[in-house]
Amino acid sequence: MHSFLIKGGVPLQGEVEISGAKNAVLPILAATLLTREKCVIRGVPNLSDVVFMGRILTSLGAKVRFRGDVMTVEADRVKGHGDYELVRKMRGSICILGPLLARLREAEVSFPGGCVIGSRPIDLHLKAMRALGARLMVEEGYVRAKARRLVGTEMFLGGKAGPTVLGTANAMMAATLAEGVTVIESAACEPEVTDLADFLTAMGARIQGAGGPTITITGVKELHGAEHEVIPDRIEAATFAIAAAATRGHVTLRNARPTHLSAVLDKLEAIGVNVQRNADGLTVSRSGALATTDVTTQPHPGYPTDAQAQMTVLMTQAEGVSIVTERIFESRFMHVSELLRLGADITIEGPTAVVKGKTRLSGAPIMASDLRASAALVIAGLIARGETLVKRIYHLDRGYERLDHKLRKLGAHVQRLRK
Ligand code: EPU
Repeated sequence: MHSFLIKGGVPLQGEVEISGAKNAVLPILAATLLTREKCVIRGVPNLSDVVFMGRILTSLGAKVRFRGDVMTVEADRVKGHGDYELVRKMRGSICILGPLLARLREAEVSFPGGCVIGSRPIDLHLKAMRALGARLMVEEGYVRAKARRLVGTEMFLGGKAGPTVLGTANAMMAATLAEGVTVIESAACEPEVTDLADFLTAMGARIQGAGGPTITITGVKELHGAEHEVIPDRIEAATFAIAAAATRGHVTLRNARPTHLSAVLDKLEAIGVNVQRNADGLTVSRSGALATTDVTTQPHPGYPTDAQAQMTVLMTQAEGVSIVTERIFESRFMHVSELLRLGADITIEGPTAVVKGKTRLSGAPIMASDLRASAALVIAGLIARGETLVKRIYHLDRGYERLDHKLRKLGAHVQRLRK
């Protein structure tokens, strides 16, 4: 098991290239199952979740090749059930349900488990498949789906925490090959949904309204192979932007798209961080003090839950009390108990973290618990006095491409230890 040993106190300086978005590429790879023809996906980040998705596609019968940042998938023959354990281990793999059902009219996908950030139900995914005419059963740990035909319909996919990103992706993918018109109301508006719609459109799908709350899909008989370049990862960009602000650094994020990051950049500017939008990215720097703020996570275009933990760390450096409220997932404060070890003053009250700053953090051994919590702990290590050992960083390798390497290029003292 790997750890990061971080010697804190160095302002990040220089340029970093933002990789392709993990949460865009996972459903896009699932969408390659919708055609027999070859699909070429560019800008694919080399992450363990992506490699894992490749293995799931292989277990379904697809030919997968991953060279550099290009993944080629040819799913000329596919079966409706993949390796149970592979699928169960990665929540994102639920998005093979829609494409398999559309292509084969049957699918068997292991029921994804919850994870440390919450119970993570899939009722809205199942509702969408049922609305299109599938019969579904949950038995022996599987979701088993069958449909003689899929028929377009109107469906409302809003849940108690708002729309669902992968649920919208699943519904959209299944509807591309359904008969007639499907209208998804309360669709997720995340840029990853738009990126998937762009890929599906390149494959011959007819989709309107992606990026907004109503998506209309007119079913077609079949889809063909396509090439696509994945959008840059807005959460990786947000993480580097917050790290630059936290360390009083000056970092240019090449390839970052400011329009995907409005809520994060707006918050950073409001608390005294300097943000410059450039032709091919943005530059984030800080020299002065940080003001306190209130942050509430919301569906896009609101403040993203995936950048909540990182912002919580930044707030430990603001003078006074900040309030961070998590509205998407029920228990996404796993990083807080580890931050307390570094000397942070944070109390949790229901869905809210009350952060009292400014604290001089002091390095200690800490444990990563999930992907974004791990990123937050790394940022904490970068500003803490002395050495911080972040253990179990396999979580980071799921979603950040060579984070240690990128941070070292910005001057940080980060070493990967094999323990
Ligand atoms: N929800 C339901 N029923 C469902 C599906 C979701 O009630 O059937 C609820 C969830 O419990 C949650 C809310 O709806 O309260 C939103 O969940 P959503 O379905 O949007 O999450 P997801 O699609 O499973 C993706 C990302 C997450 C990201 C969320 C929210 C991928 C692979 N995962 O998950 O990314 O936090 O959207 O933006 O795209 C991460 O990258 O670290 C990560 C967790």
